Amino acid sequence: MQQLTLTRPDDWHLHLRDSALMQSVLPDTARQFARAIVMPNLRPPVASVEQAQAYRTRILAALPSGSKFEPLMTLYLTDNTSAQEIRRAKQSGMVHAVKLYPAGATTNSDAGVTDIRKAYPALEEMQRCGMPLLVHGEVTDPAVDMFDREAVFIERMMIPLLRDLPQLRVVFEHITTREAVQFVTDMPGNIAATITAHHLLYNRNALFSGGLRPHYFCLPVLKREAHREALGKAAGSGNPKFFLGTDSAPHAQHTKETACGCAGIYTAHAAIELYTEAFELLGALDKLEGFASFYGADFYGLPRNTDKIALRKESWQAPDSLSFGEHRLVPLRAGEFISWKICS
Ligand code: NCD
Ligand code: ZN
Ligand code: ZN
Repeated sequence: MQQLTLTRPDDWHLHLRDSALMQSVLPDTARQFARAIVMPNLRPPVASVEQAQAYRTRILAALPSGSKFEPLMTLYLTDNTSAQEIRRAKQSGMVHAVKLYPAGATTNSDAGVTDIRKAYPALEEMQRCGMPLLVHGEVTDPAVDMFDREAVFIERMMIPLLRDLPQLRVVFEHITTREAVQFVTDMPGNIAATITAHHLLYNRNALFSGGLRPHYFCLPVLKREAHREALGKAAGSGNPKFFLGTDSAPHAQHTKETACGCAGIYTAHAAIELYTEAFELLGALDKLEGFASFYGADFYGLPRNTDKIALRKESWQAPDSLSFGEHRLVPLRAGEFISWKICS
């Protein structure tokens, strides 16, 4: 296949940052996607409806003129999030989900939940009003091996949580293991998952090929090949529980190329092209549209998009770096080739 037309996709997991940094990255997403679920891990986190409203206004103001991109806002769950805040979020109509970061699990997560029981009043209200919980699914216990933290999270957190709140709508974000694929597949329809392009395209060897590669470091960290294959099977299966979430997470070049580098991979510059490449390698191009454009909207109870984008099989070279406020940012595939290109 040399040409592909898709209903315009949405990104169900995105980091836009703020201010000048956001101004640099937002056009990349707005060019391809109709909507995106915007992560709340700013400093300070987006923890109230007022903060979400203000952040949304800043995003809309930063959009290129004429853009119809719609940011879908989220709240950052803390030990103190009240049931009342959840009701207000639901009533606002612009907050579409609440994000659970175990405290210390990832970038800007120190305000996250220290003890899930403290968040139960909020979670019970979410179950009642149908507000999805988005989960960064890794335990933070330093005794657990870095590569096992997602699988252990299922046993220690997900299973007990869903035993207590069986109707809660949950998106297991950026899954990376066959254990997570199996878990989501086996659960009822209120449990879904997002999958990134980088976890479909790379295994953990990418982190060490010829030397230490900070631009392949994200959380949850890339896993071994058998896990990548399990993710590909899930994404390419046509199972509506699995849908697109880039987790595009921009960090300035100097904060990644350093002794203790930040976690996060930037893919927004070529997101749908990278997914198309991954689905072609899977022999599942016919399943891309459901994954990228339908299943996420269906899960969130939002209308599917109606306009189209077109891609052509054409090799192009990704830039070595992009501007990021006053800094530079090194995107995935920097200086290397990508085999599909958006043509309209
Ligand atoms: C994300 C970021 O930089 O905000 N980083 C990452 O490695 N994925 C945070 C996250 O999604 O966990
Ligand atoms: Zn995360
Ligand atoms: Zn993320």
